Amino acid sequence: MKNIAILASGSGTNAENIARFFGEGNKIRVALVITNRKKAGVIGRMEGLGIDVEYVPNIVWDNDPQQVVELLRSRDIDLVVLAGFMHYVSPVILAAYPDRVVNIHPSLLPAYGGKGMWGHHVHEAVVAAGETESGVTVHYVTEVFDSGEIVMQQRVPVLPDDSPESLEERIHKAEYELYPRAIVAALGRIPSEEEAGAAVESESAVEASAPPAVPKSVDEEWAEVLKVRYEPSEASVPPPVPGAGTGLPPQSQPQNMVAGQSVAAMPDREPMPPTFLLWSMLVTLCCCFIPGIAAIVFSSMVSTRYGRGDIEGAKRASRMAEIWIIVSFCLGVLTASLYVPLSLV
Ligand code: GAR
Repeated sequence: MKNIAILASGSGTNAENIARFFGEGNKIRVALVITNRKKAGVIGRMEGLGIDVEYVPNIVWDNDPQQVVELLRSRDIDLVVLAGFMHYVSPVILAAYPDRVVNIHPSLLPAYGGKGMWGHHVHEAVVAAGETESGVTVHYVTEVFDSGEIVMQQRVPVLPDDSPESLEERIHKAEYELYPRAIVAALGRIPSEEEAGAAVESESAVEASAPPAVPKSVDEEWAEVLKVRYEPSEASVPPPVPGAGTGLPPQSQPQNMVAGQSVAAMPDREPMPPTFLLWSMLVTLCCCFIPGIAAIVFSSMVSTRYGRGDIEGAKRASRMAEIWIIVSFCLGVLTASLYVPLSLV
């Protein structure tokens, strides 16, 4: 049995679809859902399916991501699956789960990815640009937003009278079809313990002539999972993108097949500007409350904006947090310096 953890921030229709898809089999199961939003719709959906949900606030994702790693390890998670998760995934988590974190994006990446491109914003931009085609991409998560090797893609037509909402609906249907297959493919690429051990041995071998590592073929079990669980596509959804998946219709597609091409190189992202969260909290408690709260609000906006690829916005929020910390500190000092002489009178 392979365990997956789903990270979700919103409605959670993909999470529900994945949980139902694998729910009846005995090869893969959704062992845990983690959300960063207390009121996320995904929580109710998982309750109905008897799947554990953990709420992990943004402050933990930003300041103590090792807690998330421990949580994943405690549930013996093999693959981390982002389904509408709207927060930056720390390099600490990515390092603990190398090539084991995947994300779904509602466009044919690299098109319509990056800054501000998430959820309905993508569909609004696609319709506004008069595109005739959009799609869905499942890719590995890296430190660079919406980058990482593509696991699978699927094209979706944009119809002449489409609104962002009608396109979103069609894209969602394609997502429900593609994501379970991509999850099976990603799980199939994880080397078994013996293979991992063999790879370490061959790396440390002195002989320069050591044979190259053989790519893992799809385990029969995964093919079986698909045969049992995968249902054919709707007529409205065309087969996966040739050259991005395999171009073969879904049922005949080798399940360990990946895009074989990386997303066009994206420039390295600047490091996240400082959040000043600790200082914000300190001045709120020790100096002046109201500007301190403003500082906390801006501090928490830094990572949210950075996570969405809005680097400039993150920098602005960081500067604002700094300003409000100074205001809070100055007002605190002023109040104290007035209070002490007055209290002596
Ligand atoms: C999905 O369409 C997913 O592709 C998108 O959010 C939606 C979540 O829907 N993700 C992104 O835009 C990531 N950049 P859901 O909560 O109903 O599964």
